[in-house]
Amino acid sequence: MTNPPRAFNSYPSSPTTQQRWYKALTIDVLLAVLNRTILHPWVAWILVLSLRAQVTPYTDLSFVIATGYAVFLTLIAVGRSINHRVAYGLPRPVDLTEEVVIVTGGASGLGQVIARMYAMRGASVAVLDIKPREEISDDEMSGGAEYYCCDVGDRAMVEATVDQIEKELGTPTILINCAAASINGLPLLSLPASSFQKTLSTNLFSVLNTTQVCLPRMLSPSSSPSDNEDTEARGGGTIVNISSVTGALCPAGLSDYSASKSALTALHHTLEAEIRASGTNGRIKMLLVETGQIATPLFRAVRTPNAFFAPVLEPVQVARAIVDAVDAGEGGTVRLPFFASLVHWYAVLPAGVQRVARWLSGIDGAVAEAGFEGGLRGV
Ligand SMILES: NC(=O)c1ccc[n+]([C@@H]2O[C@H](COP(=O)([O-])OP(=O)(O)OC[C@H]3O[C@@H](n4cnc5c(N)ncnc54)[C@H](OP(=O)(O)O)[C@@H]3O)[C@@H](O)[C@H]2O)c1
Repeated sequence: MTNPPRAFNSYPSSPTTQQRWYKALTIDVLLAVLNRTILHPWVAWILVLSLRAQVTPYTDLSFVIATGYAVFLTLIAVGRSINHRVAYGLPRPVDLTEEVVIVTGGASGLGQVIARMYAMRGASVAVLDIKPREEISDDEMSGGAEYYCCDVGDRAMVEATVDQIEKELGTPTILINCAAASINGLPLLSLPASSFQKTLSTNLFSVLNTTQVCLPRMLSPSSSPSDNEDTEARGGGTIVNISSVTGALCPAGLSDYSASKSALTALHHTLEAEIRASGTNGRIKMLLVETGQIATPLFRAVRTPNAFFAPVLEPVQVARAIVDAVDAGEGGTVRLPFFASLVHWYAVLPAGVQRVARWLSGIDGAVAEAGFEGGLRGV
């Protein structure tokens, strides 16, 4: 069922072309600058210290405002930190030399960048992808990760592949569910049921398959690759599910994709609750990634409706946020770009406001404008 593992390593070709400098100016860039300057508590306290250095009286209005502002920012930072701990608990210890990372859909786009990042840093990495080995160029194939040809929507194939990985690399400890079927981009009435099923199989049932096969192994007492001392303390693992803002926004032309991502988000939160209820949340961390458009082959033909508020992300940017969270042993959510952190607020807006927002953003025309027949990938 599975091909012998091959070394796999390559840089994905980014579809981003050269652009003028102001096109790189996005709300995310502005917020990144603000967060590192006037919205940072340290900077606010420096202002307070500067006023004291000038012997400004404590009762002076400028000193009161500066101190109030610094206290406000500090309370927000502390509140956020406490909120994260209460929601997701303490981090699990991560030692890259002992981790075995599975990346589904790792022969392209985001998964490929994540697989490379881990392979370059010495973790054992298994890439599971549907592409036959022969279709992956030599340029794409080089040291680092191991390649396993596997349809992750096929339960028997996933079981056989994970068995093989366990024998060859060790018990999986980090599972990154990245595989996605090609975008059909058809209105619901024109979408063949078989295409809908394929999308659900690849984007949703695959996560059921990999989770049901890998999670018991992560939880088993022998889950440490080295199988030595203190397994219980180190053990466990991290499961990363890559969802999308489309799961909440449901753009026209993406019914199958959005349904799969919406269901994936629900699956993720339910599993997270079950892990918490079973008391294993200290050992198993769950990370949900909900992003806007990424510059990968999947949505290559679709233009973002608004490059300022909804900039297209580089895969390396998303991969770095995921890898940083996993390395820190944290669970939680990664939402990029900035507007992705607002999409769940969209649902509480009055319907009329939602309608105007959709019209202004052009979200329902973007897929139709891409103009394709029977799938976007490779356009
Ligand atoms: N790109 C975006 O704008 C965007 C935005 C939000 C979320 N995401 C999510 O991010 C994740 C990564 O997407 P991406 O943009 O990196 O996509 P991508 O470049 O198309 O990579 C997806 C990979 O999954 C493979 N695949 C398809 N069916 C499979 C199966 N049954 N078993 C194993 N592998 C299979 C694909 O192979 P083939 O090419 O041969 O089909 C491809 O190599 C996906 O979950 C996607 O939904 C993407």
